Amino acid sequence: MSSQPVVAIIGGTGLTQLEGPQIAAAHHLETPLGKPSGVVEAGDWNGCQVLFLARHGHPHAVPPHKINYRANLLALQELGATAIIAVNAVGGIHADMGAGKISVPHQLIDYTWGRESTFFDGEFRPLDHIDLTRPYDETLRQHLLAAAARIGQPVLDYGVYGATQGPRLETVAEINRMERDGCDLVGMTGMPEAALARELAIPYASLCLVVNPAAGRSDGEITMDDIRTVLADGMQRVRDIVAATLAGMKA
Ligand code: HPA
Repeated sequence: MSSQPVVAIIGGTGLTQLEGPQIAAAHHLETPLGKPSGVVEAGDWNGCQVLFLARHGHPHAVPPHKINYRANLLALQELGATAIIAVNAVGGIHADMGAGKISVPHQLIDYTWGRESTFFDGEFRPLDHIDLTRPYDETLRQHLLAAAARIGQPVLDYGVYGATQGPRLETVAEINRMERDGCDLVGMTGMPEAALARELAIPYASLCLVVNPAAGRSDGEITMDDIRTVLADGMQRVRDIVAATLAGMKA
């Protein structure tokens, strides 16, 4: 981590804004690969320089498969991001990952399709093959886990994130297959974001809030009302962990 960290936070469903007093500037960028999801806010949070981008825009509008992940990552790079904390609302597959649980995933499986998923496409940049053995930056993961421990927020220190196309939720058979594959969590936005961050060599880790048991992992259907209830309380805890992480990362 550099001595002057600039920590970018990519907010997901339920976390679409920094709190007012922390914001010093709002950047409306246009990258060579198009517009990011929205304005990038810049400011200071707990002594750390931070950037904030709402992945789905604000108000929440851009569906997961239409997010311009490449423009989002390029914009954060242009503004000097030295680390990225991604916040993701997810479904829980593993029995430990009940609604309201928070996980710092350590692995992922990509089930998405048709997304612009590389900078090294032979057009924007020449073809290259990056290593993604460990998709999440271990140092940054440890910062998140240590911060959660410091403030007494229980967090699961593992999780295999399965990235699906969305915007629909999954069938029970799809979730069963994902479980057999080894997925603990299911979300729609973890990829190509993690791979693009690696392509730009920006350390990247994710804080996942489980907002519902995945399809077939509870009685009945998944309702947006249930999800909203979990989001309201859960994202405040996520925010607290991010704040503590920044305090722990400042130079
Ligand atoms: N599936 C996929 N993405 C999600 C879910 C889910 O159950 N919940 C929140 N994001």
